[in-house]
Amino acid sequence: MTRPGTAIVTGASTGMGAVYADRLARRGYDLVLAARNEARLKALADRLAAEHAIVVDVIRTDLTARDDLRRIEDRIRADSAVTLLVNNAGMGTPRPVLQESIDFLEHDVIGLNVVAAHRLSIAAAQVFAERRRGGLINIASIAALHPEKTNATYAATKAFILTLSESLHATLKPLGVRVQCVLPGATRTEFFDRLGIALDTRFPADKVMSAEDLVDAALAGYDQGEIVTAPSLPELADWDRYIASRHALDPNLSHRKPAARYGLIRADD
Ligand SMILES: NC(=O)c1ccc[n+]([C@@H]2O[C@H](COP(=O)([O-])OP(=O)(O)OC[C@H]3O[C@@H](n4cnc5c(N)ncnc54)[C@H](OP(=O)(O)O)[C@@H]3O)[C@@H](O)[C@H]2O)c1
Repeated sequence: MTRPGTAIVTGASTGMGAVYADRLARRGYDLVLAARNEARLKALADRLAAEHAIVVDVIRTDLTARDDLRRIEDRIRADSAVTLLVNNAGMGTPRPVLQESIDFLEHDVIGLNVVAAHRLSIAAAQVFAERRRGGLINIASIAALHPEKTNATYAATKAFILTLSESLHATLKPLGVRVQCVLPGATRTEFFDRLGIALDTRFPADKVMSAEDLVDAALAGYDQGEIVTAPSLPELADWDRYIASRHALDPNLSHRKPAARYGLIRADD
Protein backbone atom coordinates (compact mmCIF):
# COMPACT_ATOMS: atom_id res chain seq x y z
CA MET A 1 0.00 0.00 0.00
CA THR A 2 1.39 3.46 -0.86
CA ARG A 3 1.67 5.70 2.19
CA PRO A 4 -0.46 8.85 2.07
CA GLY A 5 2.36 11.11 3.31
CA THR A 6 2.50 13.42 6.32
CA ALA A 7 -0.44 15.32 7.79
CA ILE A 8 0.06 18.43 9.93
CA VAL A 9 -2.72 18.92 12.48
CA THR A 10 -2.90 22.16 14.47
CA GLY A 11 -4.65 22.13 17.83
CA ALA A 12 -3.96 18.40 18.10
CA SER A 13 -3.54 18.25 21.89
CA THR A 14 -7.26 17.66 22.53
CA GLY A 15 -10.76 17.95 21.02
CA MET A 16 -11.33 17.62 17.31
CA GLY A 17 -7.63 17.96 16.53
CA ALA A 18 -6.74 14.92 18.65
CA VAL A 19 -9.49 12.92 16.91
CA TYR A 20 -8.20 14.03 13.49
CA ALA A 21 -4.72 12.85 14.53
CA ASP A 22 -6.14 9.47 15.57
CA ARG A 23 -8.18 9.00 12.38
CA LEU A 24 -5.36 10.11 10.07
CA ALA A 25 -2.97 7.74 11.87
CA ARG A 26 -5.44 4.92 11.15
CA ARG A 27 -5.28 5.94 7.48
CA GLY A 28 -1.51 5.52 7.55
CA TYR A 29 -0.43 9.17 7.61
CA ASP A 30 2.73 10.18 9.41
CA LEU A 31 1.86 13.13 11.60
CA VAL A 32 3.09 16.49 12.80
CA LEU A 33 1.07 17.53 15.85
CA ALA A 34 1.06 21.19 16.89
CA ALA A 35 -0.36 22.95 19.96
CA ARG A 36 0.90 24.57 23.17
CA ASN A 37 0.50 21.65 25.60
CA GLU A 38 3.58 19.58 24.82
CA ALA A 39 2.91 16.86 27.41
CA ARG A 40 -0.48 16.09 25.86
CA LEU A 41 0.94 16.14 22.34
CA LYS A 42 3.72 13.75 23.34
CA ALA A 43 1.34 11.32 25.04
CA LEU A 44 -0.86 11.24 21.92
CA ALA A 45 2.17 10.98 19.63
CA ASP A 46 3.62 8.03 21.58
CA ARG A 47 0.31 6.16 21.48
CA LEU A 48 -0.31 6.74 17.77
CA ALA A 49 3.27 5.90 16.76
CA ALA A 50 3.11 2.64 18.71
CA GLU A 51 -0.37 1.62 17.55
CA HIS A 52 0.02 2.44 13.86
CA ALA A 53 3.77 2.14 13.14
CA ILE A 54 3.93 5.71 11.86
CA VAL A 55 6.27 8.62 12.51
CA VAL A 56 4.75 11.31 14.72
CA ASP A 57 6.54 14.60 15.38
CA VAL A 58 5.44 17.08 18.01
CA ILE A 59 5.93 20.82 17.63
CA ARG A 60 5.10 22.82 20.74
CA THR A 61 3.75 26.04 19.34
CA ASP A 62 1.67 29.04 20.29
CA LEU A 63 0.20 29.93 16.92
CA THR A 64 -0.41 33.53 18.01
CA ALA A 65 3.37 33.98 18.38
CA ARG A 66 5.00 34.95 15.08
CA ASP A 67 8.15 32.82 15.45
CA ASP A 68 6.17 29.72 16.48
CA LEU A 69 3.82 30.18 13.54
CA ARG A 70 6.80 30.49 11.19
CA ARG A 71 8.12 27.12 12.40
CA ILE A 72 4.93 25.39 11.24
CA GLU A 73 4.97 27.33 7.98
CA ASP A 74 8.62 26.34 7.43
CA ARG A 75 7.73 22.67 7.96
CA ILE A 76 4.94 22.92 5.36
CA ARG A 77 7.29 24.55 2.85
CA ALA A 78 10.41 22.47 3.48
CA ASP A 79 9.01 18.96 3.94
CA SER A 80 7.91 17.55 0.61
CA ALA A 81 6.32 14.58 2.42
CA VAL A 82 3.58 16.90 3.75
CA THR A 83 0.40 16.14 1.80
CA LEU A 84 -2.32 17.32 4.19
CA LEU A 85 -2.84 20.29 6.50
CA VAL A 86 -5.67 20.30 9.03
CA ASN A 87 -6.04 23.89 10.21
CA ASN A 88 -8.02 23.07 13.32
CA ALA A 89 -6.68 25.20 16.20
CA GLY A 90 -9.21 27.84 17.16
CA MET A 91 -10.77 29.55 20.11
CA GLY A 92 -14.00 31.23 21.12
CA THR A 93 -14.78 34.32 23.12
CA PRO A 94 -15.95 34.20 26.74
CA ARG A 95 -17.97 37.44 26.75
CA PRO A 96 -20.31 39.29 24.38
CA VAL A 97 -18.37 41.57 22.07
CA LEU A 98 -19.38 44.81 23.85
CA GLN A 99 -17.76 43.59 27.08
CA GLU A 100 -14.69 41.99 25.54
CA SER A 101 -11.14 43.39 25.51
CA ILE A 102 -10.29 44.56 22.01
CA ASP A 103 -6.66 43.52 22.54
CA PHE A 104 -7.77 39.98 23.41
CA LEU A 105 -10.07 39.85 20.36
CA GLU A 106 -7.35 41.13 18.05
CA HIS A 107 -4.29 39.29 19.38
CA ASP A 108 -5.75 36.02 20.63
CA VAL A 109 -8.93 35.36 18.67
CA ILE A 110 -8.09 36.95 15.31
CA GLY A 111 -4.43 36.01 15.80
CA LEU A 112 -5.29 32.32 16.12
CA ASN A 113 -8.49 31.90 14.09
CA VAL A 114 -7.54 34.19 11.21
CA VAL A 115 -3.87 35.22 11.05
CA ALA A 116 -2.42 31.78 11.83
CA ALA A 117 -4.99 29.82 9.81
CA HIS A 118 -4.57 32.19 6.86
CA ARG A 119 -0.76 32.03 6.88
CA LEU A 120 -0.70 28.23 7.03
CA SER A 121 -3.48 27.90 4.41
CA ILE A 122 -1.64 30.11 1.93
CA ALA A 123 1.70 28.42 2.58
CA ALA A 124 0.08 25.02 2.01
CA ALA A 125 -1.78 26.28 -1.07
CA GLN A 126 1.45 27.55 -2.60
CA VAL A 127 3.50 24.39 -2.07
CA PHE A 128 0.66 21.98 -2.86
CA ALA A 129 -0.04 23.90 -6.09
CA GLU A 130 3.61 23.57 -7.07
CA ARG A 131 3.61 19.85 -6.23
CA ARG A 132 0.24 19.35 -7.95
CA ARG A 133 -1.04 17.38 -4.96
CA GLY A 134 -2.15 17.86 -1.38
CA GLY A 135 -5.18 18.57 0.75
CA LEU A 136 -6.20 21.44 3.01
CA ILE A 137 -8.91 20.99 5.65
CA ASN A 138 -9.99 24.17 7.42
CA ILE A 139 -12.19 24.03 10.50
CA ALA A 140 -14.61 26.97 10.52
CA SER A 141 -17.97 26.92 12.35
CA ILE A 142 -21.68 27.24 11.73
CA ALA A 143 -21.11 30.68 13.31
CA ALA A 144 -20.02 31.71 9.81
CA LEU A 145 -23.66 31.27 8.75
CA HIS A 146 -25.49 32.99 11.61
CA PRO A 147 -23.43 35.98 12.68
CA GLU A 148 -26.49 37.50 14.38
CA LYS A 149 -26.39 34.83 17.08
CA THR A 150 -22.66 34.82 17.87
CA ASN A 151 -19.94 37.09 19.20
CA ALA A 152 -19.19 39.38 16.25
CA THR A 153 -15.45 38.76 16.21
CA TYR A 154 -15.70 34.98 16.49
CA ALA A 155 -18.39 34.81 13.77
CA ALA A 156 -16.31 37.04 11.51
CA THR A 157 -13.19 34.90 11.97
CA LYS A 158 -15.12 31.80 10.92
CA ALA A 159 -16.75 33.58 7.95
CA PHE A 160 -13.21 34.53 6.91
CA ILE A 161 -12.17 30.87 6.98
CA LEU A 162 -15.22 29.81 4.96
CA THR A 163 -14.62 32.45 2.29
CA LEU A 164 -10.87 31.75 2.23
CA SER A 165 -11.54 28.04 1.74
CA GLU A 166 -14.15 28.49 -1.00
CA SER A 167 -11.86 30.83 -2.89
CA LEU A 168 -8.82 28.56 -2.47
CA HIS A 169 -10.90 25.64 -3.71
CA ALA A 170 -11.63 27.55 -6.93
CA THR A 171 -7.91 28.31 -7.34
CA LEU A 172 -6.55 24.88 -6.44
CA LYS A 173 -9.08 22.45 -7.91
CA PRO A 174 -7.66 22.73 -11.47
CA LEU A 175 -4.22 21.93 -10.00
CA GLY A 176 -5.38 18.71 -8.35
CA VAL A 177 -5.29 20.07 -4.79
CA ARG A 178 -8.24 19.44 -2.44
CA VAL A 179 -9.76 22.04 -0.11
CA GLN A 180 -12.50 21.33 2.41
CA CYS A 181 -14.06 23.67 4.94
CA VAL A 182 -15.80 22.03 7.92
CA LEU A 183 -18.66 23.77 9.73
CA PRO A 184 -19.09 22.15 13.15
CA GLY A 185 -22.11 22.96 15.27
CA ALA A 186 -21.88 22.61 19.06
CA THR A 187 -19.36 19.84 19.71
CA ARG A 188 -18.39 18.17 22.99
CA THR A 189 -14.76 19.29 23.49
CA GLU A 190 -12.91 21.62 25.87
CA PHE A 191 -13.86 24.57 23.66
CA PHE A 192 -16.62 25.80 25.99
CA ASP A 193 -14.77 24.79 29.20
CA ARG A 194 -11.98 27.16 28.18
CA LEU A 195 -14.57 29.95 27.99
CA GLY A 196 -16.01 29.10 31.40
CA ILE A 197 -19.29 28.10 29.75
CA ALA A 198 -21.12 24.90 30.72
CA LEU A 199 -21.94 23.29 27.37
CA ASP A 200 -24.91 21.37 28.77
CA THR A 201 -26.60 24.50 30.10
CA ARG A 202 -26.02 26.36 26.81
CA PHE A 203 -27.32 23.68 24.40
CA PRO A 204 -29.89 20.88 24.62
CA ALA A 205 -28.23 17.43 24.47
CA ASP A 206 -29.71 16.67 21.03
CA LYS A 207 -27.86 19.68 19.58
CA VAL A 208 -24.38 18.62 20.73
CA MET A 209 -22.24 16.23 18.66
CA SER A 210 -19.29 14.18 19.91
CA ALA A 211 -15.87 15.14 18.56
CA GLU A 212 -15.53 11.58 17.19
CA ASP A 213 -18.77 11.79 15.17
CA LEU A 214 -17.87 15.28 13.99
CA VAL A 215 -14.47 14.25 12.65
CA ASP A 216 -15.63 10.92 11.20
CA ALA A 217 -18.44 12.69 9.32
CA ALA A 218 -16.09 15.46 8.17
CA LEU A 219 -13.59 12.90 6.83
CA ALA A 220 -16.42 11.02 5.10
CA GLY A 221 -17.39 14.35 3.51
CA TYR A 222 -13.77 14.87 2.45
CA ASP A 223 -13.74 11.41 0.86
CA GLN A 224 -16.98 12.26 -0.95
CA GLY A 225 -15.34 15.37 -2.42
CA GLU A 226 -17.36 17.94 -0.47
CA ILE A 227 -15.97 21.48 -0.50
CA VAL A 228 -17.99 22.54 2.52
CA THR A 229 -19.06 19.96 5.08
CA ALA A 230 -21.69 20.73 7.72
CA PRO A 231 -21.79 17.39 9.55
CA SER A 232 -25.21 18.04 11.15
CA LEU A 233 -26.99 19.13 7.97
CA PRO A 234 -29.32 16.30 6.88
CA GLU A 235 -29.87 17.41 3.25
CA LEU A 236 -26.91 18.39 1.07
CA ALA A 237 -29.49 19.87 -1.35
CA ASP A 238 -30.19 22.60 1.25
CA TRP A 239 -26.56 23.70 1.09
CA ASP A 240 -26.59 23.58 -2.72
CA ARG A 241 -29.70 25.79 -2.74
CA TYR A 242 -27.99 28.28 -0.40
CA ILE A 243 -25.00 28.53 -2.74
CA ALA A 244 -27.27 28.75 -5.81
CA SER A 245 -29.22 31.64 -4.27
CA ARG A 246 -25.93 33.47 -3.65
CA HIS A 247 -24.91 32.97 -7.27
CA ALA A 248 -28.32 34.16 -8.45
CA LEU A 249 -27.19 37.64 -7.34
CA ASP A 250 -24.11 37.52 -9.60
CA PRO A 251 -25.52 39.20 -12.76
CA ASN A 252 -26.67 42.21 -10.74
CA LEU A 253 -23.84 42.87 -8.31
CA SER A 254 -21.91 45.27 -10.53
CA HIS A 255 -23.61 47.85 -12.78
CA ARG A 256 -22.76 51.33 -14.08
CA LYS A 257 -25.73 52.86 -12.27
CA PRO A 258 -27.05 52.43 -8.71
CA ALA A 259 -30.38 50.61 -8.35
CA ALA A 260 -33.54 52.61 -9.11
CA ARG A 261 -34.73 52.44 -5.46
CA TYR A 262 -32.04 54.97 -4.45
CA GLY A 263 -33.70 57.61 -6.62
CA LEU A 264 -30.46 58.93 -8.16
CA ILE A 265 -31.73 60.19 -11.50
CA ARG A 266 -28.95 62.25 -13.17
CA ALA A 267 -29.07 64.50 -16.21
CA ASP A 268 -26.79 62.11 -18.16
CA ASP A 269 -29.02 59.05 -17.53
N1 LIG B 1 -16.45 22.76 20.06
C1 LIG B 1 -17.37 23.44 19.36
O1 LIG B 1 -18.57 23.51 19.74
C2 LIG B 1 -16.98 24.08 18.05
C3 LIG B 1 -18.01 24.53 17.21
C4 LIG B 1 -17.67 25.12 15.99
C5 LIG B 1 -16.36 25.24 15.62
N2 LIG B 1 -15.36 24.81 16.46
C6 LIG B 1 -13.98 24.96 16.01
O2 LIG B 1 -13.36 23.69 15.99
C7 LIG B 1 -11.95 23.83 16.14
C8 LIG B 1 -11.46 22.84 17.19
O3 LIG B 1 -12.03 23.22 18.43
P1 LIG B 1 -12.32 22.18 19.61
O4 LIG B 1 -13.78 22.21 19.85
O5 LIG B 1 -11.63 20.92 19.37
O6 LIG B 1 -11.63 23.03 20.79
P2 LIG B 1 -10.68 22.62 21.99
O7 LIG B 1 -11.07 21.31 22.57
O8 LIG B 1 -10.64 23.82 22.87
O9 LIG B 1 -9.26 22.44 21.27
C9 LIG B 1 -8.60 23.55 20.71
C10 LIG B 1 -7.21 23.12 20.27
O10 LIG B 1 -6.51 24.28 19.79
C11 LIG B 1 -5.28 24.41 20.51
N3 LIG B 1 -4.94 25.81 20.68
C12 LIG B 1 -5.66 26.77 21.34
N4 LIG B 1 -5.00 27.92 21.33
C13 LIG B 1 -3.82 27.70 20.66
C14 LIG B 1 -2.70 28.52 20.33
N5 LIG B 1 -2.63 29.81 20.69
N6 LIG B 1 -1.68 27.96 19.64
C15 LIG B 1 -1.73 26.64 19.28
N7 LIG B 1 -2.76 25.83 19.56
C16 LIG B 1 -3.79 26.36 20.25
C17 LIG B 1 -5.52 23.71 21.84
O11 LIG B 1 -4.33 23.19 22.42
P3 LIG B 1 -3.39 23.87 23.51
O12 LIG B 1 -4.24 24.46 24.57
O13 LIG B 1 -2.53 22.71 23.94
O14 LIG B 1 -2.61 24.91 22.75
C18 LIG B 1 -6.40 22.53 21.39
O15 LIG B 1 -5.57 21.49 20.91
C19 LIG B 1 -11.70 25.31 16.47
O16 LIG B 1 -11.27 25.97 15.30
C20 LIG B 1 -13.08 25.82 16.87
O17 LIG B 1 -13.24 27.20 16.61
C21 LIG B 1 -15.64 24.24 17.67
